[in-house]
Amino acid sequence: MNNNTELPRRTLEMKGVSFKYPRGRRMILKDVSAFFESGRLYTVEGESGAGKSTLLTLLAGLAVPTSGEILADGKSISEMGMTRYRREIAATVAQANLLFEGRTVLENVMFPMLLKGVSPSEAETKAKEYLGQVKLDEELCGHYPKECSGGEQKRAAFARAMALDNPVILADEPTANLDRATARTVASILGDLAKDRGRLVIAVTHEAEIPEIADERLFLRAGVLERE
Ligand SMILES: Nc1ncnc2c1ncn2[C@@H]1O[C@H](COP(=O)(O)OP(=O)(O)O)[C@@H](O)[C@H]1O
Ligand SMILES: [Mg+2]
Repeated sequence: MNNNTELPRRTLEMKGVSFKYPRGRRMILKDVSAFFESGRLYTVEGESGAGKSTLLTLLAGLAVPTSGEILADGKSISEMGMTRYRREIAATVAQANLLFEGRTVLENVMFPMLLKGVSPSEAETKAKEYLGQVKLDEELCGHYPKECSGGEQKRAAFARAMALDNPVILADEPTANLDRATARTVASILGDLAKDRGRLVIAVTHEAEIPEIADERLFLRAGVLERE
């Protein structure tokens, strides 16, 4: 199934973005420009400490560039308002997943929909659909995050990001600490989100599984973002 054509094309652009932490001494990003569009899976690779998480934090609207700007559909995200940008456009799956420990897997996935005013019964139906798409067993629905393996938690975190319905999905090291087979499953989930669901997906990683299937591979070296 490919319903890309039904969705409006969305774009994300970094324009001359430089970044230095307020108390940091060096520029982590130096004049980074990049263009991303919906329906595609991108990876940003780089060594530990290269600035991958920092780059993702900026794209997520959780920090502001020291200079340069980030545009979503041609509009500056700081002008649009970062809160609105995070609510309506960019969904982030952090390296630590950030599932609510006191809620079951199903409740975690239902949560963003309930916040948006979706009825509990519809939220439950949709949450089960998303959990099915990330190939999580129905019986895991009632488990709490700590009763799930790392790979299961990661898939639950993606199901929750899908429930947000945001056009942009950003993932920080989504295959870290997973066995190779599970890492490939997570990579194919990201590929499907881009190809079948028309999302704009950016994953930062220092591992091979996602880059292998990415539409475009980018590399962060000494603060400079380069194409393959
Ligand atoms: N809050 C902070 N203040 C100052 N420096 C930081 C902060 N967070 C990260 N750094 C530094 O920024 C650099 C890039 O970090 P990070 O983006 O986490 O790299 P990566 O995700 O590629 O491993 C590192 O040198 C790190 O020490
Ligand atoms: Mg990192």
